[in-house]
Amino acid sequence: MTIDNGAVRLPGRFRLVALDGVDSTNLEAKRLAEDGAPDFTVVWAREQTAGRGRSGRTWLGGAGNLYFSILLRPDYPPDQAMQLGFVAANAVADAVQTALPSAHVHVKWPNDVLVEGKKISGILMEGSLAAGRPAFDWLVLGVGVNVNAHPKTQDTHMPATSLKAEGASGDALDAGRMLETLAKRFLAGQATWAKLGFGPVRRHWLSRAQGVGRRVTARLPRETVEGVFAALDEGGALILRLDSGEQRRITAGDVFLAVR
Ligand code: BTN
Repeated sequence: MTIDNGAVRLPGRFRLVALDGVDSTNLEAKRLAEDGAPDFTVVWAREQTAGRGRSGRTWLGGAGNLYFSILLRPDYPPDQAMQLGFVAANAVADAVQTALPSAHVHVKWPNDVLVEGKKISGILMEGSLAAGRPAFDWLVLGVGVNVNAHPKTQDTHMPATSLKAEGASGDALDAGRMLETLAKRFLAGQATWAKLGFGPVRRHWLSRAQGVGRRVTARLPRETVEGVFAALDEGGALILRLDSGEQRRITAGDVFLAVR
């Protein structure tokens, strides 16, 4: 069964809320979550006026880009549920690779997707813990994909690009079609994750990951540290090996290839 909402059809597991504009699809999904909206509600907007990024940053808009959030109510311990961010990043990376067959597509910890080293997609996960049990009451997974436009960032660590700028054409430049593709891929990835656990998701992510085994700079909430990106652990945390030999388990922050 598919839901028909305008021109966009998603697999029947999803309930689609399609909007012309909104402050942020994550904020709208959170409001709907608090009002009792079900698992797999998707909020999609053609425009956002207050798009949110990780670490309190703004996610800049652009006409014809894709902005959506999936509201989930995963019945798993929070650490495990957060692995769904890697499921989503894999779905985006696969779709981007299909749209740009000869491009170098990478994933960057935690959930960014890069084309030729430039960011094309970011994911913001926000959740609220359930009272009295170790699980999220709701988890919102917000995905932004630069389809037709990208911000001209001043931060040289974070250049951006779009599918259009990289030479994609046809349906790949239609945000609604991209949403359909991503919803299908996410659903397939989520089913594999639910059946087989994080292993296959983690392996798929690592097969495209930028920086593993290399020297990276990690901008953490309270400090910046440098070391070797030694591993991605079972919980999705980045294991950084410092020069002192100490290993740090990093669960939040931004990581860049170190320039030396
Ligand atoms: C990042 O900083 O890389 C995460 C960016 C996430 C942006 C998306 S766009 C759809 C959803 N709504 C938001 O306000 N943010 C996410």
